[in-house]
Amino acid sequence: MIALLPDGLKLAYEEAGSGTPMLLVHGWPHDHTMWSGQLGGLATYARLLAPDLRGVGASTVRGPYTIDQYADDLIGFLDSLGIARAVVCGLSMGGYIAFAMLRRHRDRVRALVLADTRATADTDEARANRAKLIASIEQEGMTALAERQLPSMLASSTIERHPSLVDTVRRMMASVPPEGAIGALRAMAERPDSTPLLDTIDVPTLVVGGAEDTITTPDVLRRMAAVIPNSRVEILEQSGHLSPLERPAAFNHVVGEFLGALLYD
Ligand code: MLT
Repeated sequence: MIALLPDGLKLAYEEAGSGTPMLLVHGWPHDHTMWSGQLGGLATYARLLAPDLRGVGASTVRGPYTIDQYADDLIGFLDSLGIARAVVCGLSMGGYIAFAMLRRHRDRVRALVLADTRATADTDEARANRAKLIASIEQEGMTALAERQLPSMLASSTIERHPSLVDTVRRMMASVPPEGAIGALRAMAERPDSTPLLDTIDVPTLVVGGAEDTITTPDVLRRMAAVIPNSRVEILEQSGHLSPLERPAAFNHVVGEFLGALLYD
């Protein structure tokens, strides 16, 4: 389906289920299909909405690409569907966007699921790495980038045991338009530190991620959750950075429980 925003931007999205709206925000370089296990498995708990961010999938490929702009796009998306508040579930870059939604549109966030993400801004080293990734996309394109990113996205056990999932992730990453992928890298490099926000979060929050995630390690997740007042943390074994895809049943179990508890909150 396509949502048309007031500035003419089109956001493609997939929807499943009914009840409490839950926005599923993908990471980089991903698209909404990374949530296929949730669109299938969590639809009895919530009305799931999984958009492609600008520059990705069937959404408009057009800047400006900033984390704040992605957050504002998602508010425009909720507006277009007449949704006042949603549970926001963001993976990695999707988490950076969830923090921006909280900073800019706090009253629109019903609860938070922070998956495989971090609150801190980029270090100088991370920014330099992003510059290298931009150069490699410009020189070699997305197929080579997807191949290079795979080992950091998935747990080694996933790579060994689930070749078809590896192939799905490779194809998803390779299909992101280069302009959108580069725009997102610049957006992430420029994002502010969200650490000061953490102890002000006043909605129920679930922090979840893979035990073998090398990008946002369990330590990073535990430290983040320790500062968020009404939060809990779940670390999923045999999962890397893409926990909703690598361990869909386990991910859905903890998120389903979290959504169930919201009814009594
Ligand atoms: C992501 O999965 O969204 C990215 O790995 C996040 C990042 O590069 O900081």
